[in-house]
Amino acid sequence: MDDQNGAPVKDSPGEHSPDGHSRGGRPAQEVTVKEGGPARLAIIGGTGVYDPGFLEGAETRIVPTPYGEVEILFGRRGPREVCFLARHGRGHTVPPHRINYRGNIWALRKAGVRWIIASSAVGSLNPQMKPGELVLVDQFLDFTKSRDATFHDGAGGVVHVDFTEPYCPALREHLGAAAASLDLTAHPAGTYVCTEGPRFETPAEIAFFRGAGGDLVGMTGVPEVVLAREAELCYASVALVTNFAAGISPTILTHREVVEVMQANLEQIRALIGRAVDTLPPAGNCRCGSAAGEKGIFNASLGVDGGSGQDH
Ligand code: HPA
Repeated sequence: MDDQNGAPVKDSPGEHSPDGHSRGGRPAQEVTVKEGGPARLAIIGGTGVYDPGFLEGAETRIVPTPYGEVEILFGRRGPREVCFLARHGRGHTVPPHRINYRGNIWALRKAGVRWIIASSAVGSLNPQMKPGELVLVDQFLDFTKSRDATFHDGAGGVVHVDFTEPYCPALREHLGAAAASLDLTAHPAGTYVCTEGPRFETPAEIAFFRGAGGDLVGMTGVPEVVLAREAELCYASVALVTNFAAGISPTILTHREVVEVMQANLEQIRALIGRAVDTLPPAGNCRCGSAAGEKGIFNASLGVDGGSGQDH
């Protein structure tokens, strides 16, 4: 991809067809590629978060990528350039298994983004993590089935990226401090189980996930976090518990309930992200920006681990 200052990546049409985030007939625009100056921060809004609520001078642009076009809102918060991407589209039209995860992360990286704060609605498997509370996710269990989950599709060799720290520990800690300064309850860690969706889970699945160490369940965290790490971005997930999961909750689950709880808690999510943006420390206190240097590339012709090669 590009360098950390957002120099352009090469967009080749490739084999990929656009999906999700259609541009509705408007022409694609090149984004303002950043050259020097502070990097951008991106907010990915999940269910119930379709506008960060605090962007100044916001302007929608359509960013072309090898995976299709992606709609992003560009603006500022004070001196910081911030952009916003609605994961399910602005009208919540794209289901979890149809989201253009690769296009989204590619477009953000191309726009010079260094940090991503992603919001999501989750069910809770953990009695300590209650509806209305925030969790700063630190691990995931991947139970998705049909998604394009990597930028390393084989063209440059077989690539394996380290995932010991899937979420940026520095950004997560920063969000924890921002939450504390606002007197918000934010659990500092939690294991997120990602299901394929779009259906909700059975009680048997939830019991299995709990036994496996899961705290939260949702449908969109993977492969978003995976692709962000492959793109060497700092990625943090702010999960809002909207319900206890199937079989734990005494009632059946509806999407309406999820959206209503999300909406009731929108202000705390906006306040947390706003405070985190305002107080963002300089990048560098983590290893996310060199994740590609920790990957192993297996080149069949050489039969060796090639180390730091780039395949896109
Ligand atoms: N399961 C899956 N996704 C969710 C849930 C849930 O219980 N709540 C909010 N998103």
